[in-house]
Amino acid sequence: MKRKWTLILIVALFLISCMAGCSTNSTDSSELESVSLSSEIEPAEDPSSESQNFVEEVSAPVFDFESRTVMLNSGYEMPIVGLGTYALSDEECYNSVTALLEAGGRLIDTASYYGNEESIGRAIRDSDVPREEIFVTTKIYPTEFDDPEEAIEGCLERLDIGYIDLMLLHHPGTGDVEAYHAMEQAVDDGKIRSIGLSNWYIQELEEFLPQVNIAPAVVQNEIHPYYQEQEVVPYIQELGIVVNGYSPFGGRGHTSEMFADEVIAAIAEDHGVTSAQVILRWNLQRGVVVNPGSSNPEHIRENLDVFDFELTGEEMDQIAELERGEKHEWY
Ligand SMILES: NC(=O)c1ccc[n+]([C@@H]2O[C@H](COP(=O)([O-])OP(=O)(O)OC[C@H]3O[C@@H](n4cnc5c(N)ncnc54)[C@H](OP(=O)(O)O)[C@@H]3O)[C@@H](O)[C@H]2O)c1
Repeated sequence: MKRKWTLILIVALFLISCMAGCSTNSTDSSELESVSLSSEIEPAEDPSSESQNFVEEVSAPVFDFESRTVMLNSGYEMPIVGLGTYALSDEECYNSVTALLEAGGRLIDTASYYGNEESIGRAIRDSDVPREEIFVTTKIYPTEFDDPEEAIEGCLERLDIGYIDLMLLHHPGTGDVEAYHAMEQAVDDGKIRSIGLSNWYIQELEEFLPQVNIAPAVVQNEIHPYYQEQEVVPYIQELGIVVNGYSPFGGRGHTSEMFADEVIAAIAEDHGVTSAQVILRWNLQRGVVVNPGSSNPEHIRENLDVFDFELTGEEMDQIAELERGEKHEWY
């Protein structure tokens, strides 16, 4: 398993570096070539058959708009729209998760840093929805990397929902490789189903991936119309990793400007939907999973209701033009 993933990563990085060399818009291929490869790798007996395997096994994840899920490289399905819970606490968080589950939403994003895992676990246990249908993402923070086993146990205890669907490292930081290895062990132990990273970009991934044994299933990064990550998104997807965007409306304090954006508002009017729905739909059509944050049950329902309209290629291009490189989070 370990060797297989390492080989898949090598071939994937090689193919991407070839693509980067051919495309004028891509990252400088010399950067990609600087990836250091694990010393444990043995040459494949038949390299050509290995690359064919890779093409079959590692292709960009495809969203299933019928089931509203995407198949992760870990073999588990992840819902493509859900709820973010940053800044929600106690009863507000409990009520928001309850509203999501009642409305048919099944993806909940939290983190040990948010301090609300207990409320989320309680809402899940109190709901009529079978645990197996719900997908919970949590994250461990860099300040916890010095004892990742304890951090993982802490998330499991606070959530108290049996297992964790997806655990991410919240940011790069000292000890992140060791923390990732602890998550790999927790996967082997059946405590976590899938693992991944958050706030990792091309250079960070190039350095990190050769040091791990289980490929990340998901990378979660800031993505919204003013910060689109037009190169990073396809780079991650071509590695067979699902991209999950956070702060789809720009994050708290930035949403009014984005909702009032002339281009977005005009597209929303044409489709008879809201600006929020246009932004979420734009993400989905780029293959980006979304978990908008909300404490308002009406907004939570609205944010799930993005499957009855489709943006045209021209509308997708118009939104692409809104890119400003305007990052709202500090990392
Ligand atoms: N990995 C990371 O480092 C990281 C960083 C930031 C966030 N995240 C995750 O991503 C999630 C989303 O990001 P975010 O919460 O920061 O920002 P966001 O989703 O861009 O925006 C949240 C804001 O949008 C409003 N809103 C939501 N739906 C709306 C709708 N349909 N109409 C009008 N307003 C609406 C919410 O207000 P109401 O409460 O009134 O609905 C809230 O003020 C977080 O909750 C968290 O789970 C991860």
